[in-house]
Amino acid sequence: MSENIVWHRHSVEKNDRSVQKSQKPCVLWFTGLSGAGKSTVASLVESLLVANGRHTYLLDGDNIRHGLCKDLGFTDVDRVENIRRIGEVSKLFVDAGVITLCAFISPFAKDRQVVRSLLNSGEFIEIFCDASLSECEKRDPKGLYKKARQGVIKNFTGIDSAYEKPIDPEVHLDCTNETPEELAMQVVNYLVDKQYLEQMPAVQKFA
Ligand code: ADX
Repeated sequence: MSENIVWHRHSVEKNDRSVQKSQKPCVLWFTGLSGAGKSTVASLVESLLVANGRHTYLLDGDNIRHGLCKDLGFTDVDRVENIRRIGEVSKLFVDAGVITLCAFISPFAKDRQVVRSLLNSGEFIEIFCDASLSECEKRDPKGLYKKARQGVIKNFTGIDSAYEKPIDPEVHLDCTNETPEELAMQVVNYLVDKQYLEQMPAVQKFA
């Protein structure tokens, strides 16, 4: 970055936007293997929040790779850049006062930590969508594991590219044994318990 670029402080700030929306913005970061259920659960959580008047946005790996990150592939270097961009975009959404849901494999612990460090304390909520490789491979909703095993797709997470499990996530979801609806409620209940939704008029509905 050039030393000639100076940060401009604008008159409307994060707190003004948050107060206007009556909510505490944060990032709900869903990480896990392909096929674990990140997008499904994130989408259900977003629906519950919107139904209760929250302002949200869902950033989803497959969708973002159609636009903002369409120049990136799946080498380690490209995945780092993918998560770096999403981290910066998430920070902007939080600055806008929005509850931001991110569903990305985000296989490297260091990159998830980088996103956490971009945000204020309590704004980054790591949600581990925990399903074993064998379970995800059995589901194989897009047929990608099969292609990876055949060597048609390279650098596939869990097959020939690493996935580093979160060590101490804020929320740990058992994506093998519980339904997406149950898991979405666990996330919402976490937000209620930690008072992220305390200004939400219909909050009792979640309890
Ligand atoms: S990340 O590793 O950079 O966080 P991201 O979440 O954006 O990945 O994209 C993952 C999605 O891309 C998967 O759900 C899958 O549909 C698709 N995909 C295509 N090739 C690969 C690959 N080599 N490894 C993992 N996912 C892949």
